[in-house]
Amino acid sequence: MTDTDTIATSKLLPATTGFEQAIDGKQVKLFYLKGKNGMQAAITNYGGRVVSLLVKSANGKMVDVIAGFDNLKGYQQSSSNYYGALIGRYGNRIANGKFKLDGKEYSLFINNAPNTLHGGKVGFDSKVWDAVQPNEHTLELTYHSADMEEGFPGNLDVKVTYTVTRYNSLEINYEAKTDKPTFINLTNHAYFNLNGAGSGTILKHIMQINADEYTPVNKDLIPVGKVASVKGTPFDFRAPLPIGDRINDDNEQIKFGHGYDHNYVLNHPNTQVPVVTVIGDQSGLIMKVFTTQPGIQFYTGNFMKGDFKMKGDQPDAYRTAFCLETQHYPDSPNQPAFPPTLLEPGKVFKSVTLYQFERK
Ligand code: BGC
Repeated sequence: MTDTDTIATSKLLPATTGFEQAIDGKQVKLFYLKGKNGMQAAITNYGGRVVSLLVKSANGKMVDVIAGFDNLKGYQQSSSNYYGALIGRYGNRIANGKFKLDGKEYSLFINNAPNTLHGGKVGFDSKVWDAVQPNEHTLELTYHSADMEEGFPGNLDVKVTYTVTRYNSLEINYEAKTDKPTFINLTNHAYFNLNGAGSGTILKHIMQINADEYTPVNKDLIPVGKVASVKGTPFDFRAPLPIGDRINDDNEQIKFGHGYDHNYVLNHPNTQVPVVTVIGDQSGLIMKVFTTQPGIQFYTGNFMKGDFKMKGDQPDAYRTAFCLETQHYPDSPNQPAFPPTLLEPGKVFKSVTLYQFERK
């Protein structure tokens, strides 16, 4: 029996069998990763999706903090929720599916009318990535996105490396190169529930976001162009507060997002001090997020509708998971005041995000 089999038969992680299938001649698989301190992960090369993350909770039990499926079909059926997926070429929205580059206008597929969301009709979330597992902690995924795929210029080569570290974190390294100027915004769309996937809503989780400002949006969730202070608004999470305390406030921005679905302007993007700290109220699990990206989309599962059966036969019910998508700001290609998302030939795009777990 191989080491990988040992992990699978522990039954805490989904079995590989639900994922083994060829799509367009490429083999989909489930990969197991483990860290030196006990944390384990299951990740599929279908969209580079994080399927499970097992973390030890305060009472010593292993908790799966990822809302996801134990088979490929579940991910394909729920594609518009992007469960666990790598997102590209451009994470989040591009207004009216249009941008200009070097004087030329480019048109993208409108999949979230009137905008393009998370890369267009078939984004990186639904591609089969090439996978290499150099050791038991690491999974390297690569994807070649051809010139004009989904309407974006340039041959883009993307590499995403997932590592389960000895410090109980899932580290995600992103790299990309292009042969023509192009816009990119790469992120991961993991849905977390620190009390354990399928254990009810996340409204009592305690959230702290190290951001003085966020980017207010119009009703179609496109930033209106300015950054605004969080002070005195339901968006102020500078001091720790339960997620649900102000989620139904009579506030225009909350209404536009149907809850939280907004980009925060991070005070100090870095890999040393957390940009976000979240605590599971029942498990006592603490998740710290570190990133080099300038923004983070805080999304409270407002479009989870209970239509799909997830792991453990639990429905993907309303607000039973949250996302913290580290990113550049939405619609940056059309918003010159925002940090630039242009990637030029000869340059290498690099970013790092860590989701680190501790016990109370
Ligand atoms: C978006 C939401 C969207 C969700 C799932 C988030 O990144 O901001 O509006 O519903 O992804 O598609």
